[in-house]
Amino acid sequence: MAQINDEIARRRTFAIISHPDAGKTTLTEKLLLFGGAIHIAGAVKSNKIKKTATSDWMEIEKQRGISVATSVMGFNYGDYKINILDTPGHQDFAEDTYRTLTAVDSVIIVVDVAKGVEQQTRKLMEVCRMRNTPVIIFVNKLDREGRDPFDILDELESELKIGVRPLSWPINIGAKFKGVYNIFENSLDLFTPDKQKVSERVEIDDVNDPRIDEAVGEADAAKLREDLELIEGVYPEFNVQDYLDAKIAPVFFGSALNTFGVKELLDCFVKIAPAPKPVAAVERTVNPDEPGFSGFVFKIHANMDPNHRSCIAFVKVCSGKFERNAPYKHIRSGKLMKFSAPTAFMAQKKNIVDEAWPGDIVGIPDTGNFKIGDTLTAGEDIHYKGLPSFSPEMFKYIENTDPMKSKQLEKGIQQLMDEGVAQLFTNQFNGRKIIGTVGQLQFEVIQYRLLHEYGAQCRWEPISLYKACWIESDNPEALANFKRRKHQFMATDRQGRDVFLADSNYVLQMARADFPDIRFHFTSEF
Ligand code: G4P
Repeated sequence: MAQINDEIARRRTFAIISHPDAGKTTLTEKLLLFGGAIHIAGAVKSNKIKKTATSDWMEIEKQRGISVATSVMGFNYGDYKINILDTPGHQDFAEDTYRTLTAVDSVIIVVDVAKGVEQQTRKLMEVCRMRNTPVIIFVNKLDREGRDPFDILDELESELKIGVRPLSWPINIGAKFKGVYNIFENSLDLFTPDKQKVSERVEIDDVNDPRIDEAVGEADAAKLREDLELIEGVYPEFNVQDYLDAKIAPVFFGSALNTFGVKELLDCFVKIAPAPKPVAAVERTVNPDEPGFSGFVFKIHANMDPNHRSCIAFVKVCSGKFERNAPYKHIRSGKLMKFSAPTAFMAQKKNIVDEAWPGDIVGIPDTGNFKIGDTLTAGEDIHYKGLPSFSPEMFKYIENTDPMKSKQLEKGIQQLMDEGVAQLFTNQFNGRKIIGTVGQLQFEVIQYRLLHEYGAQCRWEPISLYKACWIESDNPEALANFKRRKHQFMATDRQGRDVFLADSNYVLQMARADFPDIRFHFTSEF
């Protein structure tokens, strides 16, 4: 087999998603631990490790203790090369997470056993469903009191709208938690509440082995057999293809903090999770094993080091071999570019790399050439399809408060929008600029970064809007009429597309009724 096929087959590029506090950071650290990428077991309590294992490049993130940025952690595990794409923990940065999900081949969802499916998880799952991304679910914090595992399975199925299949099963929960039976491998792992030590495995032949009774006691062994029988009766046999087709999500139980159930999750994950898949471009579908390099920018991280004002574009390699110093075409500008210092991310370290393969993420130092969604290729004119923009939830006018710095403000706004920090709309009636975000915190980040990175000061003015709707019509006259009638509420997005800013749901409903020839969309691609 050609080297490229070997390299593709051993790559697993994925993201861990969860509602804040379910244990994403802890699980990420434990995975890094197994990959030898960090060496301090169970140091999650220490905020220092917490911060360095994830990304804390941005000043604001340090200040707020929220993982604003999306970083990449690569490590080897056995024959596999694993790339974890970290996503911001805070829901105000959901848009960032949506984009990261365009660059992964699968996802692990972490759910807190006491809290079940929470709002942010539901939202992110919708994006996975749109893209048919295979998911594995890790039910966390079994060392704490929580809900009945059968209840949790039902909730996962109904709330996440995906079939589930437990591949491990807990023996009790909370103070009485004794361990998990690994259905995938037919083994028993006993729980020792110890963050330094990996669980103790009991050698057994099958679920009827008396060694289970010896290990957990007769009553719990009987209950386990009963539960497993029920599982076998209720849930169909696990079929990897159903998982790969995003129809079934395998479920594991454990405690990330206690490093319990994590290795079992990882071992199963590397076996069943998909290697990089063909990727759809506007022109055609591109296979990863094609010789010509291609990739797209899914994240731009500006000024990671405030002293150097550097900016890094994160490129997901989709096909071929990426090589340092090779000339690649930046499709949007048509320019050929060479990258002398591309970096790969191995745990906390950034290293210059000479090559990268499909599934890998390459960081390219940039001085403002890249925008989110840009395609790079060995020469062919193809455009990868990104995720569309979604209608923001919050809107504010942005105003300049320092007339001497209007150029800086303009530049700052443009660059932050290129990075995908928020969306910019320009009112067609009065020319005022409106910033749309998913949450309040994004406004604070923008204001902070404009000041600290561009020396520009802004202030926000309220505007009461419900949704931004991208509009279209097959009838140009109807469109012109609508725009005339609604001219005060018409805006233009950065691509020059017409956007109707509806100030209430009622107004939107009325507009739909009054203008049947106009189609209203909550996303920019339809
Ligand atoms: P997140 O990234 O999803 O937001 O969650 P994170 O890993 O930061 O975990 C949130 C809290 O839950 C942390 O406690 C963490 O220690 C705890 N936690 C994670 N996994 C488990 C588990 O298996 N069992 C128990 N009992 N707790 C778990 P914290 O007090 O908020 O933070 P810290 O001071 O421990 O860092």
